[in-house]
Amino acid sequence: MITDKAEIEPCTYVIFGATGNLSRIKLMPALYHLEVAGRLPEGTVILAISRREWDLDKWLSEVREMISESARGGIDEEMFQRFSSRLRYQKGDLNDQTTYGNIRASLDNDSDFPVNAAFYMALRPAEFGVVIDHLAASELTHEEHGWRRVVIEKPFGYDLESAQMLQKRLLKCLGEHQIYRIDHYLGKGTVQNILVFRFANVMMEPLWNRNYIDHVQITHSETLGIGGRADYYDTAGALRDMIQSHLLQLLTLVAMEPPASMDAESLRDEKVKVLKSIRPIPQTAVHAQSFRAQYASGVVDGEKVKSYVEEDGVAIDSTTETYAALKFYIDNWRWRGVPFFVRTGKRMAESQSAVSIRFKVPPQHLFRNTPVEKLKPDWLLMGIQPYECVRMEMQVKEPGLEMKTRTTSLDASFRQEHEAAYDAYEDLLLDVIEGDRTLFLRYDEVEWAWQVVDPILRVWATERDYIHTYPAGTWGPMETQRLFDKENQFWRHSLLPEQE
Ligand code: BG6
Repeated sequence: MITDKAEIEPCTYVIFGATGNLSRIKLMPALYHLEVAGRLPEGTVILAISRREWDLDKWLSEVREMISESARGGIDEEMFQRFSSRLRYQKGDLNDQTTYGNIRASLDNDSDFPVNAAFYMALRPAEFGVVIDHLAASELTHEEHGWRRVVIEKPFGYDLESAQMLQKRLLKCLGEHQIYRIDHYLGKGTVQNILVFRFANVMMEPLWNRNYIDHVQITHSETLGIGGRADYYDTAGALRDMIQSHLLQLLTLVAMEPPASMDAESLRDEKVKVLKSIRPIPQTAVHAQSFRAQYASGVVDGEKVKSYVEEDGVAIDSTTETYAALKFYIDNWRWRGVPFFVRTGKRMAESQSAVSIRFKVPPQHLFRNTPVEKLKPDWLLMGIQPYECVRMEMQVKEPGLEMKTRTTSLDASFRQEHEAAYDAYEDLLLDVIEGDRTLFLRYDEVEWAWQVVDPILRVWATERDYIHTYPAGTWGPMETQRLFDKENQFWRHSLLPEQE
């Protein structure tokens, strides 16, 4: 978490896959922004590892391009010079032990490279194990002279079994304290605000349970398609890509009990308890509790876009889901009987991440014999991106002689105009240097999240002949409505007040 911290030691930030997409879009811009914020410790060096035959000058010009696309307020030349002076480039094949020997030589013999080292795996999941084996074989994971940390991107495994195997492989080479399993959703300020909103205010807690809450919805929708990521996405699908990781994490933050303290272990303990309490979905209930679909061609932001199976690299008969919606029950004292609806999709009508909580209607209809025919339920809406907000929708009387109601909202804006947004990766990359694992996943969280989604994955894997579709640019297929238990429950798409 970004906090004011005491002096921290410099390190060598080694980025495997430095010329790839993640590094280009997220890592290099985030590191540059940390430079601008003065948060990179003096002497810190960023070492890019890639197979490309580039020299340092070529790398610097690439980095400039990566940053120029997202630098807040444009590139500041002075800062860029400072940042450039930290950058190093080594050509290296991930499968070749020499690559690791070269890194070791730099760390051991070149005083330019701090001995503390963070190894960031901006790689395909299939490569994590190989790289870590090589790091260990070169003794780069040994901590006699300084700390050594490994940052692993999601997905951690492909299902429960492969996650368990990956974990065993990692533990042969590393201590758990060296493993930073990143879920960048936890670095988002608005996601952290869920904890602050819940636990720094006394008002919500009495209402935060099955007595007052009808149901919870967690949505992450995107207008974008899969871009150039068919290679990864077609074997993953929306359930693995978004729900097993980011959205189940959001669910734990909404549902957890107050932790004993905000230290990493207390927080993770409470998150794990939520995951353990999710009612297992038996094979026979998979259809009742889950829905998947794939985008067909359609119109997004006024432009015609192709269907998923027409995307480069996707097989024409692929039945990989680009939309997934699930219903979970958390069988504990607080949440028993309250459904949690979670959905995500690519090529949807809008890009939006939000938690929408619907309260129950008052138990007694006092306004029965007035023009107020039907009382509307109250909603609490927490916008995560792009619309950052906390809004409480309530009913008030309409001015005038008649007894009519309308919906109004109390807005608690998250950020003031002069306060800049920062990217989740900035926070998390800094946490790695500072050794703060609060916002990283402990292995049991990952394992329990796989336990939750595995039954669905198993059933879906056997049903590969057909998948529902939805036109790109819409809110997904109408059929997902069948997940709701009651007629008056529906997907909440907008964070703005409901229309009459
Ligand atoms: C990534 C997924 O982890 O998160 C992507 O692999 C998804 O498919 C992305 O688009 C969403 O995160 P954000 O922060 O870009 O909204």
